[in-house]
Amino acid sequence: MSSKASTIWGGRFGFGPSAVMERINVSIGFDCRLYAQDIAQSKAHCAMLARQGIISPEDAKAILGGLDAVLKEIENKTFQFKTEFEDIHMNVEARLAELIGAPAGRLHTARSRNDQVATDFKLWVRDAIDRLLGQIHAFQDVLLARAEEHAGTVMPGFTHLQTAQPVTFGHHLMAYVEMLGRDAGRFQDARKRLNECPLGSAALAGTSFPLDRSFVASELGFERPTANSLDAVSDRDFALEFLAAGSILAVHMSRLAEELVLWTTAQFGFVRLSDAFSTGSSIMPQKRNPDAAELSRAKAGRVIGNLNALLIVMKGLPLAYSKDMQDDKEPVFEAADTLELVLAAMGGMVADMTVNVERMQAAAGAGYATATDLADWLVRTLKMPFREAHHVTGRIVKLAEEKGCGLEELSLAEMQAIEAGITKDVFDVLTVLRSVESRTSFGGTAPQCVRAAIKAAKGGS
Ligand code: ARG
Repeated sequence: MSSKASTIWGGRFGFGPSAVMERINVSIGFDCRLYAQDIAQSKAHCAMLARQGIISPEDAKAILGGLDAVLKEIENKTFQFKTEFEDIHMNVEARLAELIGAPAGRLHTARSRNDQVATDFKLWVRDAIDRLLGQIHAFQDVLLARAEEHAGTVMPGFTHLQTAQPVTFGHHLMAYVEMLGRDAGRFQDARKRLNECPLGSAALAGTSFPLDRSFVASELGFERPTANSLDAVSDRDFALEFLAAGSILAVHMSRLAEELVLWTTAQFGFVRLSDAFSTGSSIMPQKRNPDAAELSRAKAGRVIGNLNALLIVMKGLPLAYSKDMQDDKEPVFEAADTLELVLAAMGGMVADMTVNVERMQAAAGAGYATATDLADWLVRTLKMPFREAHHVTGRIVKLAEEKGCGLEELSLAEMQAIEAGITKDVFDVLTVLRSVESRTSFGGTAPQCVRAAIKAAKGGS
């Protein structure tokens, strides 16, 4: 079944699209989210057309007033988005024509939906980056506050998820502050690169009208106009970079989520999530499930999937615009929404969680976590080569294991039976607290280093 031809390009069409054509073609269901950007760029374009004498001041005035009226209708939710107008650009323009009549037809002079959509989308991604940057910094503040509280709290550090060496919980949290710092850097970097205005590239080749592209660029907060019209209408690097930076951020959140899932188990017992961030079980009354952490972990899959989806959309496209590129928006919108939710949930959990300091400290001492400290002592005090010290320590650990006790619970005589040079001073390095206090190398886990790192992160260097 087909309907009447579109009024916008109806000139060369006898009748309109079939229902299925309309269904596959329509994007207003999601690109309505670009309304504010679309109207802002139309206003900048219109002002420029008038300044350049391409349209009359009267028409420009009518168009600008009409665009404001459309914006108000959308914001007041009285605007009716219509699928027959396909996308946000034509919905706005059609309503503008209803409101102001003939002058509306002049707005699209020297413009195409191709440069229009690229501009709208860049503006949207730029705003999304700014929102995410705010959230990333807020989450860093939460982590910094918790790290400060726990700069001296000892916990086991793991490699292969096997107890490796004692670390401080503050140090562990600060690792995520670093990750988030790089995430913020990637978004800022992407923002800088995207900040060129495609408008004025028209359909693909530029235009014969005497535009002032720099004026439009600066009106919209762009650094400059894009330099190649073909590239400008077919570039979606900014969306890919957003998704790539977002994917790495999502991976970081997923790793922290996984740690929360582990730490809140009865077996670890390091952390208790607040009631506000726990769920119960419908059958097992004792349960406190870390659903928000699990879902944050899961949602990384979506963000990564969205990056993958858009890479695949773009990979075979010849220059310049192809309609495939209309499918760029949903992945980006979904990723942005997901990241916003995950950052809020992760920040909420970390801010509210209770840390079981005793439990962490007890676990830090288990699993011969200070064995490296013993080996280092042998190197430092007895001038033993590290490889030999490693071997001697291994034998001492084996003895403790056979006796079912900790390293510090062996007697001096037992240790001396393995290495005669050992003195009672060795016991100084076998406690977890001494172990972490000794790790003072730059970037190390010692409480004083953690405090210095927090100060530096807060901008106090
Ligand atoms: N809705 C379209 C999109 O999002 C706008 C651009 C349409 N351009 C075209 N030549 N049909 O990509």
